[in-house]
Amino acid sequence: MADGATLTLDLEKFRLRPFVKRLVEIGEVELHETPISLARLSSVIEASPKATLFKNVGVEGYEMVAAVSGSRKRLAAAFGVEPREVAHEFMRRVSDPQKIVEVPSAQAPVHEVVTTGEDIDLTRLPFHVQHELDGSAYISAGIDYSVDPKTGRTNVGCRRLMLRGRRHMRSNLTDNSDLKRCYLGCVERGEKLPVSFAIGSHPLDYLAATAKIPVDEFGLLGTLRGEPVPMVRGRTNGVLAPADAEMIIEGYFDELGYRELEGPYGEFYGFYGPVHIDPVFHVTAICTRKDVLHQTVLHSGRYLSRTDSANLGSLHAEVACWRALRGARIEPAAIHNVPASNGRQHVRVALRRGQPGQARAAIMALFAVMGTKHIFIVDDDIDVFDDQQVEWAMSARFRADRDLVVQGGLPGFYADPLVGEDKTIAKAGFDLTMKTDEPNRIDNLRPKAAAFTGPARYQTVRQALEAGPIYFAAIVEGVGSSDGREVALELEDMQAHGVVTRTKDGAWTLK
Ligand SMILES: Cc1cc2nc3c(=O)[nH]c(=O)nc-3n(C[C@H](O)[C@H](O)[C@H](O)COP(=O)(O)O)c2cc1C
Repeated sequence: MADGATLTLDLEKFRLRPFVKRLVEIGEVELHETPISLARLSSVIEASPKATLFKNVGVEGYEMVAAVSGSRKRLAAAFGVEPREVAHEFMRRVSDPQKIVEVPSAQAPVHEVVTTGEDIDLTRLPFHVQHELDGSAYISAGIDYSVDPKTGRTNVGCRRLMLRGRRHMRSNLTDNSDLKRCYLGCVERGEKLPVSFAIGSHPLDYLAATAKIPVDEFGLLGTLRGEPVPMVRGRTNGVLAPADAEMIIEGYFDELGYRELEGPYGEFYGFYGPVHIDPVFHVTAICTRKDVLHQTVLHSGRYLSRTDSANLGSLHAEVACWRALRGARIEPAAIHNVPASNGRQHVRVALRRGQPGQARAAIMALFAVMGTKHIFIVDDDIDVFDDQQVEWAMSARFRADRDLVVQGGLPGFYADPLVGEDKTIAKAGFDLTMKTDEPNRIDNLRPKAAAFTGPARYQTVRQALEAGPIYFAAIVEGVGSSDGREVALELEDMQAHGVVTRTKDGAWTLK
């Protein structure tokens, strides 16, 4: 832990509010200025492919933002790189660990307004109903910070919060997680587990919270931010949490263990998660900035590709696939894990041509990555981030009796309802690469609209032809024509004089 006095900290740089301003600048935000009820939020969020910023929500007139991590473009903005560079930038930052810096409460923006004791009233916070069958109203944007009392290990994760009463919430600690393990230890020892939930965080903090990297997880926030993370000690529970968050809910999970029903809740994989028994969280303080920007996350719905969860998951899964392929000595041109498949299950890989058997080797390597299910391998003339191009490759370069690889008995993704009782699943690989030794033959090439962006290089059509066989559009561009019709006439004339002919692929050439 670094000493705060030795570092100058910018407590606005990784705040949610300026990040949303940046998203507005790059056209990634749909603005709603008219009043809207909390109940109507979810359907408006789901209907938009953009992040949604609401200026006047509920009777309190909250300012709220949704889906700030809901696209690759938004995650790229969080890293300050181009969308295709995000996975590489993630890996680069992880290799350069950063520390945390403790900020005194008086300097922590998130401690500007602190509410404790009897004044706490969770019903004054924008919990809202998200999916039709959910068990209550939720705040789903929580990032939890805790320290294992036994090992001193720091832990960060994302956890949804279910409104239970004025000072109590439930959270979902059912699936395996570090927090669950730590809490079960506390229950066994009869101890409470202090936890702070930050609500209103930069996308990089969500990425740190959802990463499965065995490091000091508080420090991982700084590592992904690319500089030390400022943290402030909880006023009532002593737990460190980011000093630049919009809001922090402090409290503890009690020592009584799993005892109340949580859920059902629309889950990130596109089904409802069932009701299960979970612990109760006791709130001891609510800390906010004076101009708090509330954040929400619509966790599921009909468009998983718009959810924060699928986009965060897609990036983590891509990083895992890069590592797996490099481990198999395959260097792909590009990888994309498709958010609509919840970000993990459908993997698209573009390979450079030339290595026999490479597509199958890549499929095998990716079968071994936890959470993958269907692998699509294309040549690098296909953009794996473009659904239309991959759809075309599927229709034009795939023969089911030749290019399909199916393997059963592999470990299944825990949330996949098709996983068998033995916890295994069948995975499929689709080899959509071109099966020809002559990839540059005209009928193997994909048409593209002629763009005419190059400079004129020839005075005449004849000069253009003297450089070797050339396609018609290249002659038009080469002679600087804005038209092409006079080039056709010139070629007709040359043909009549027996000076020009065509190659077998149709290029024009001198005899
Ligand atoms: C928006 C969001 C909400 C999440 N909510 C929960 C949750 O309520 N319970 C849970 O077990 N995992 C949830 N997750 C997944 C965990 O945050 C993720 O598995 C994390 O790595 C767990 O961290 P841990 O193992 O360090 O405790 C959520 C993820 C996201 C992106």
